[in-house]
Amino acid sequence: MKNLILATFVTVALSACAQFHKKSENGTAPSQTTTTPTATPVAATKAQAVLKPSINSKVKGIVHFSEDGDAVKIETMVEGLKPGPHGFHIHEVGDCSKADFSSAGGHFNPGHGSHGSLDSKDAKKRHAGDLGNLMADTKGKANAIIIVDGLTVKPGPHSILGKAIIIHNDKDDLKSQPAGNSGPRAACGVIEAL
Ligand code: CU
Ligand code: ZN
Repeated sequence: MKNLILATFVTVALSACAQFHKKSENGTAPSQTTTTPTATPVAATKAQAVLKPSINSKVKGIVHFSEDGDAVKIETMVEGLKPGPHGFHIHEVGDCSKADFSSAGGHFNPGHGSHGSLDSKDAKKRHAGDLGNLMADTKGKANAIIIVDGLTVKPGPHSILGKAIIIHNDKDDLKSQPAGNSGPRAACGVIEAL
């Protein structure tokens, strides 16, 4: 009895299948999609910065950047910080050659805003490079992921490629001009395409 039921089922299934095939044969054939080879190189969507410490700090680490929709995801793997919050910014010049990192210039500010908070919805009350504070744990480590609007890895006026990422000694108060009073620059890295 069981076998009979199974056989019936298989027959029904097969005929259903055959019918399906017949239908699709009668329908319009799917159009052939042709892929045109493109000569344009694909713009980088990922970047990284290797941090180097200032003479007075032992900070080291790496920061990864990746295009995330209309935003950029920033992932930090940093150690050697003083525990607590540290001003964290993208600066406008990708040059960490001076001992105090003054060569990196001011905050990346393509929108001509004032210094502010990462959470500010008003583009004029924030530099595009204002990333708020990076929080170091009691061991001095900061492994964080933040999503930042108004930046791109791809080329354009808001591209972070060729800029510098800087971690300061102290907390960014998110309101003092022009840089949140976050003290000396403890670590600097040039943002390079991956
Ligand atoms: Cu800064
Ligand atoms: Zn700023």
